[in-house]
Amino acid sequence: MAEVIGLGYVIVEARDLGAWKAFASDLLGLEAAVETPDRLRLRMDDKTYRLDIRRGDTDGVTAIGWEVRGPEELEEIAARLESDGYSVERAAEDAVKARQVSGLVEFDDPGGQRLELFWGLLEANERFVSPTGARFVTGRGGMGHVFQFTAEDAAHRRLYQDLLGFRLSDVIEFAPGMTGTFLHANERHHSFAFASLPALSGVGHLMFEVTELDLVGRAWDKVLAGAAPVAASFGKHTNDEMLSFYVKTPSGFQVEYGYGGKLIDDATWAPARYDAASYWGHHRADPSEPDV
Ligand SMILES: [Fe+2]
Repeated sequence: MAEVIGLGYVIVEARDLGAWKAFASDLLGLEAAVETPDRLRLRMDDKTYRLDIRRGDTDGVTAIGWEVRGPEELEEIAARLESDGYSVERAAEDAVKARQVSGLVEFDDPGGQRLELFWGLLEANERFVSPTGARFVTGRGGMGHVFQFTAEDAAHRRLYQDLLGFRLSDVIEFAPGMTGTFLHANERHHSFAFASLPALSGVGHLMFEVTELDLVGRAWDKVLAGAAPVAASFGKHTNDEMLSFYVKTPSGFQVEYGYGGKLIDDATWAPARYDAASYWGHHRADPSEPDV
């Protein structure tokens, strides 16, 4: 069965590109490869971009780009989505070019979040140079993970597991009746996670993983000095064992910046169950938010 192989890119609409430049480059260490008054295109590895921020009148995640292996896989998954009732658009040539991919289809998830499936994201000719000396864990694990709040867990489970081919990593019961589901598409512990919580919807956070704990520590010092609003303090997750902190992006959703995430081998993996998201730390600035 054709399936998604990882998180490829994220497209964001933002009102303040200047704030995004400082946040993404100075704090996270992403490289601003394209910078115009209306556009901030950010690299984190050999790919020509991973985060594409467009100036707009609102703030939020415009599209999440999930990678598949090739054109046959793209069509197979698109047909599967259609037979399940999703309306899938085959992107026109100019849209494919704009994303710098080889093939692209688009559809909305059950909550209305735009998702894109693509294959063949362009490799850059220039070497990736981080302004903070950061190196990111990408490659086979994709660019990181997405956590999303959902109104309907069952519909998301059906979409991601049955139609897109993600596999269950584990679940965390944050509170009675409030469960987070963590799914993998490659060796990264999770590329997508979701939970239904009252009054919260859309993308909760994106996670970027760096190759050294010191990179997280130095960034945390910058956060403590005021570089970005803290969403959750430095801590260690139970399920993926990530050492990370959470900050608010200039667009309101959060970024988890971490090190040391667990890898999954499907041959031996058995999904576990947890009743807490962190062993220590990750104290939320807003206590009503779940610790994920
Ligand atoms: Fe996360």
